[in-house]
Amino acid sequence: MRILVTGGAGYIGSHTCVELLENGYEVVVVDNLYNASEKSLDRIRQITGKELTFYQADIQDASAMHGIFDKEAVDCVIHFAGLKAVGESVAKPLEYYQNNIAGTLVLCDEMRKHGVKNIIFSSSATVYGDPAFIPITEECPKGTPTNPYGWTKHMIEQILTDFHTADSEWNVILLRYFNPIGAHKSGLIGEDPKGIPNNLLPYVSQVAIGKLSCLGVFGNDYDTHDGTGVRDYIHVVDLARGHVKAIDKLKENPGVKIYNLGTGKGYSVLDVVKAFEKACGHEIAYEIKPRRAGDIATCYSDATLAKKELGWTAEYGIDEMCSDSWRWQSMNPNGYDD
Ligand code: NAD
Ligand code: WQD
Repeated sequence: MRILVTGGAGYIGSHTCVELLENGYEVVVVDNLYNASEKSLDRIRQITGKELTFYQADIQDASAMHGIFDKEAVDCVIHFAGLKAVGESVAKPLEYYQNNIAGTLVLCDEMRKHGVKNIIFSSSATVYGDPAFIPITEECPKGTPTNPYGWTKHMIEQILTDFHTADSEWNVILLRYFNPIGAHKSGLIGEDPKGIPNNLLPYVSQVAIGKLSCLGVFGNDYDTHDGTGVRDYIHVVDLARGHVKAIDKLKENPGVKIYNLGTGKGYSVLDVVKAFEKACGHEIAYEIKPRRAGDIATCYSDATLAKKELGWTAEYGIDEMCSDSWRWQSMNPNGYDD
């Protein structure tokens, strides 16, 4: 089977390409390299010893996408491409709606024109907003996103569901990721944020390597075991393997399916700092700062459905997530830059 991976040069996409190649799939990556380096693709080749096809193209470019679908006999699309910085999306809503939503429409139009009706979409726990209950099952109602990024996920889920309603040949799997962290065991691929990281793990690892001086912990007065925010961190390799399992599911023509991809365990910011200190062997400087706007106290999944229906469960714990992040960071202090 040939899988078209949009955003395949990015953080989660590159790890998924490795798992796909190792499971015998042919991989075609489409990425405009807006937030990625082509070097990640060389590293995927290095890890797997296998070839993949790469098109540097924007999913919003209908003629480029048309040409790619004409040339490649694609069976299924895994759609990672999108802008993902929550704070930036508040300042640049037009860019986020344009890239994420209009891009998805162009992609799906070309899929339809070429008879490709199988898609796995990168959604997010952000669609639950401030969740109605915890642990969060897929039955938990979608909430009100607090930013345009979250709305793009919310809306694209609806758009893809409507495609299936209109044409039952569409199979759509919406994967709602919790908080992906970690890196491939080889230390060759990992998360490489441009500028100052917005997310916890890349910030912590840049403090650990000495590029940043001190972590700001956003609030220690939440109703959690130590007052800091609790999240369901999931190893990116586990997450990547969830996509391979989702392809197996697509082969059953399942219609629309939604799965949480998380571990079902919650760790606080300070738990993560401690685990990272253990991984890197020294202390991480931090100071308590005010709460960050839009943050919730606690968010973790009930991952039972993915286990039952996909046969997928996360294998790695917080210690491996931190030690693998650290290996990537220390082997590549400047990410993919020389
Ligand atoms: P990433 O930025 O590393 O990967 C996204 C990739 O898409 C990048 O390589 C970027 O260059 C590419 N891209 C963006 N717009 C494009 C366009 N118009 N055409 C072609 N390529 C384009 O991000 P990631 O962390 O790997 O996230 C992958 C997907 O998972 C995203 O859709 C993101 O919203 C979603 N997601 C991420 C997280 C997370 O915490 N990392 C959590 C939930 C969901
Ligand atoms: C985790 C915890 C922060 C940075 C975001 C998106 C979500 C999804 C995953 C894409 C929180 C605290 C963080 C820092 C801190 N992405 N923190 N200091 O906010 O759970 O989720 O990424 O879909 O949609 O919203 O992740 O890593 O930013 O924060 O104290 O410098 O770490 O307050 O409790 P978040 P995060």
